[in-house]
Amino acid sequence: MDKYELRILAFTGVILVIFLVSVLRAVNKYAIDLPECIPYDESFTEPQIKQIDDNLYQVFVKSQMWSFEPSEMYFPVGAEVDFYLSSSDVVHGFHIAQKGLNMMAVPGGINKATAKFDEPGVYEIVCHEYCGSGHQHMRAEIIVNYPNQQ
Ligand code: CUA
Repeated sequence: MDKYELRILAFTGVILVIFLVSVLRAVNKYAIDLPECIPYDESFTEPQIKQIDDNLYQVFVKSQMWSFEPSEMYFPVGAEVDFYLSSSDVVHGFHIAQKGLNMMAVPGGINKATAKFDEPGVYEIVCHEYCGSGHQHMRAEIIVNYPNQQ
């Protein structure tokens, strides 16, 4: 092998290691929850919101041209929400900017990520993968508020 090829390979290897270390440091420093790919199961594709205990929720979000189901979700302040994301047609995105949460909805796959909502407010979900002529209308909302006191 030519010595220049070896140098380029070594240089590429060093760059790859730097990128990998940077990503791992960022994940650690900002406590980023990396999305998980979980085994496909039809039951995750039925849109629903389940309350598991006082503060823990599971949401099965179905993406399709050009909407998310459920499109409105209400949680109390302090809720921790596991999002299970599926797509019934093409690749979509799922982005909650205020939470730094970013997933892809891939047909035939289920992706999962968790977010904790410690502040009241309206959290917008947008599709950030171009998915056709209605892409810019594809959005949903999470409304987080203090629970009613009885
Ligand atoms: Cu769905 Cu863009």
